Amino acid sequence: MKKTSKTLLKISFSGSKANRVIEINELIKNKKYKRVVEVFGGSCCISNNLKRDNIVPEVVANDYDKYFDNFEYHINYKEKLINQLIELGFEKSKRALCEDQKEKLQNLIIKIQDNKNLLKYLSKNFVFSAVRNMGDIKVSDFSYFMNDLSTKQDREFYINLKNVHLDSLDYKDFLQKYITFNDRNTLIIVDPPYLNSFQKQYSNGTYFGLCETIRLLKIVKQLKNDFIFFNMIEKDSIELLNLFGFNYTYNTKNTNASRNNIREDFLAYITFDEKESKRNTCLN
Ligand SMILES: C[S@@+](CC[C@H](N)C(=O)[O-])C[C@H]1O[C@@H](n2cnc3c(N)ncnc32)[C@H](O)[C@@H]1O
Repeated sequence: MKKTSKTLLKISFSGSKANRVIEINELIKNKKYKRVVEVFGGSCCISNNLKRDNIVPEVVANDYDKYFDNFEYHINYKEKLINQLIELGFEKSKRALCEDQKEKLQNLIIKIQDNKNLLKYLSKNFVFSAVRNMGDIKVSDFSYFMNDLSTKQDREFYINLKNVHLDSLDYKDFLQKYITFNDRNTLIIVDPPYLNSFQKQYSNGTYFGLCETIRLLKIVKQLKNDFIFFNMIEKDSIELLNLFGFNYTYNTKNTNASRNNIREDFLAYITFDEKESKRNTCLN
């Protein structure tokens, strides 16, 4: 598989698909799409990488969580906090902080207790991975001092993100605004909260159980644009796609959701081109 010479643009985000970007490049390399529309943006890393690598000329992503509102401030906040902690004698470690240090850390961040996105952004360095993946983060979850303390990667990600057109809408409105029927030049990226995960609902998001996932697939079927669909369990995802009679190829990877939690990560490439074969040799 061809590798890009540049390093991937990525930031820490629960459910990030940065590790599938090279595979997506490979899948669409002969298609010459003019536009990619990422409906459940999350970290918006797919659009950001495809645009930076000139795979498509135009990208639009749905920052439904408004994660990138004030992101520059969030990066600066992290830098300042890390420096304060180092001055107080904190040392990076995989072990939980002692009670005294935990208290100092939580006192420092108490003022941002209502800023969900900032707490989420900081959590990679301060919150145990299994807790990070469970939903909203609280100040009382901050009990570690770990992982990459630098903000270099985040700044690079954010600088490139200026080239991605961001919006923030419910997925149905977003599709209505950016997708036209039977558009062969656009690829839609569909990565909803997973059907089988605990996190069926991100903060303020729709509850993505079976009904909502079916509703979503019904809409994209009607729109007839090629799309990439992510979900969790391969067997369930295949059943769903077959139910709709889609023409697709797929690949499933095992991903470390947290330290002791390996889960399936299903990706399917659905096309509406009748000549497209059922299987694509670059998969599996
Ligand atoms: C699995 S994550 C997407 C991760 C993303 N592909 C990435 O690589 O970072 C699903 C995203 O959908 C968002 N979401 C939840 N309900 C939504 C809705 N009704 N409309 C649009 N987005 C929604 C969540 O907030 C979350 O950011």
